[in-house]
Order: sequence, then structure tokens, then C-alpha cells
Amino acid sequence: MTAQLIDGKAIAEQVRQQVQEDVAAMVSAGKPKPGLATVLVGENPASQVYVSMKQKACAQAGVESFGHKLPETATQEEVEKLVSELNADERINGILVQLPLPAGLDEERVLNTISIEKDVDGFHPLNIGRLAQKGRDPLYVPCTPYGCIYLLEQVGVKIEGANAVVLGRSNIVGMPAALLLVRRNATVTICHSRTQDLPGVVRGADILIAAIGRAQMVRGDWIKPGAAIIDVGINRIEDPSHPKGSRLVGDVHFDEAKEVADWITPVPGGVGPMTIAMLLRNTVRAAKLAG
Ligand code: GUN
Repeated sequence: MTAQLIDGKAIAEQVRQQVQEDVAAMVSAGKPKPGLATVLVGENPASQVYVSMKQKACAQAGVESFGHKLPETATQEEVEKLVSELNADERINGILVQLPLPAGLDEERVLNTISIEKDVDGFHPLNIGRLAQKGRDPLYVPCTPYGCIYLLEQVGVKIEGANAVVLGRSNIVGMPAALLLVRRNATVTICHSRTQDLPGVVRGADILIAAIGRAQMVRGDWIKPGAAIIDVGINRIEDPSHPKGSRLVGDVHFDEAKEVADWITPVPGGVGPMTIAMLLRNTVRAAKLAG
């Protein structure tokens, strides 16, 4: 059996198209373009790439982006002062502080400074706290986990009542993904480095979200027949047969798993494109909430 591919690239494109149409409608109604501020602190090469991709996606969708860069040596006060200025700036609907911050900066305090109405990354403690509580609704949901759930819903995977296993408990992906699944009435198991019999736990998963950052760790014989697999991992491995000498793989061994699962995301082209698409969606939502 071969699983059906969940085409994140195509689904992200639809979301971006919808965002573009929403922005065009706002502008023709005489409203300003939505504005997103990006804050990049330091020189982390991966963060530089991500921020520049986010800015390009904004331009394409008609969202105004305001790029701010601070040096690696920026103090806690300098970062918080910038965020406070962005909070007060009416042109800006969403604020994105790219993570991780350089060592020595207190991430929690920085995220706490972002006005919750502009917290389009959904990392403010209040938004995360609301995500974790019954009967409360966050203003925004973190973009990568939101993208994972959106993919499942788009292809019609039933979440309610499913046994869902999340590999990884990071603040950015694993934990909010697990909370989103609980809110949709899945029975959720969160696995991490101390989990005993990981293959055995994964074998019970109707839905698997893998976000541990270990290349091809999940093998085909760990997969429950008929499962839906969302692979968040992006890992580079050596591959002499490839023109570059290396290639990108997920946390799941794709070639093995696709023979057992019903649905699977490819790497690249699965979850990756969804993060930016959901960021744009959250930014438009922020602009609408601002009136
Ligand atoms: N670093 C890795 N993923 C993300 C994300 O979704 N948002 C931010 N701000 N930083 C990240």
C-alpha cells in the first residue's frame, strides 16, 4: 500500500491566495494594508533565512512588513523597548520576534511584552494559557502547529476520538500541537526523550505528529496501518547520490512509512510552507480585529 501525499505546498498556496484576496478586499474598502513587524536579534543564519522568507511572503500577499534588526549584543531593555514601540505603532497589526533569541536574553519576558492583540505567533503566555484551558480561546494559535492541524483537516482526517501521538514537547511545536489536538477531542500522548518503548507508543497512533529533529528516526514498522503522519522535522543528511551531496529528510523514514500509512506529509513540501501561510492568516486576523 502507498500512502496519499499531503501536499503542504499546494495547501499553503491556497491559504496565501485567500490572504491576498482578503487584503485586497480590505484595501478596496479603504482600510490600510495589514502590517507585520519582524524582529531579528543577532546573526543566526537560519533565523535570517526564515525572516527574509516571511518578509517576501508578506510582500506577495499585500501585507506591509516592517523589518527590525538588533545586534547580537542587544540588551534585554533594548529588545523590550523595541517591542513596546511596535505595540504602540498603529501601522503594525502583528509582531513576530524570531526565536531563538541570543543566549542571555530572557525569551519569556520578551514574549510577555508583546501586546496580545499583536501576538500573531501565539507565543504570549496568555495566548498559550488560553489554548491550554477549556472554554477559553486564544486570539492566535502558533503557526506551525496550526499548519499541522489545518493539513489534517483539509484532507479530511478525523481528529475527534483518534489516538494522536506527538513526538516532542517544544514550546513552538510539540506542546501547542498536543493542545490543539486535545481541543479537537483526540486522545493525546506526548512523547519525549525519556519515553519508554517509543516504537510501541507510536504503533498506537492514528495520527502522528513528529517534531523531534532526529533524521528518519521513526521507522516504517512503528507506524499503525492507515495512520496519518505529519512530519515537522527538517534535517539535512549526507547523500552522495544527490547533486549537493546531501538532502533534507524529516523525522520519519518516509520511504518506509509511506508503505504503511494512509496519509503522509513529504519533507520538504509538507509542513514547512504552512508556517508562513498561517502567519499571514494570523496577521490578517489581527488587522480585522484592530478594525
Ligand atoms: N523559530 C522557529 N519557528 C518559529 C516560529 O514559528 N516563530 C518564531 N517567532 N520563531 C520561530
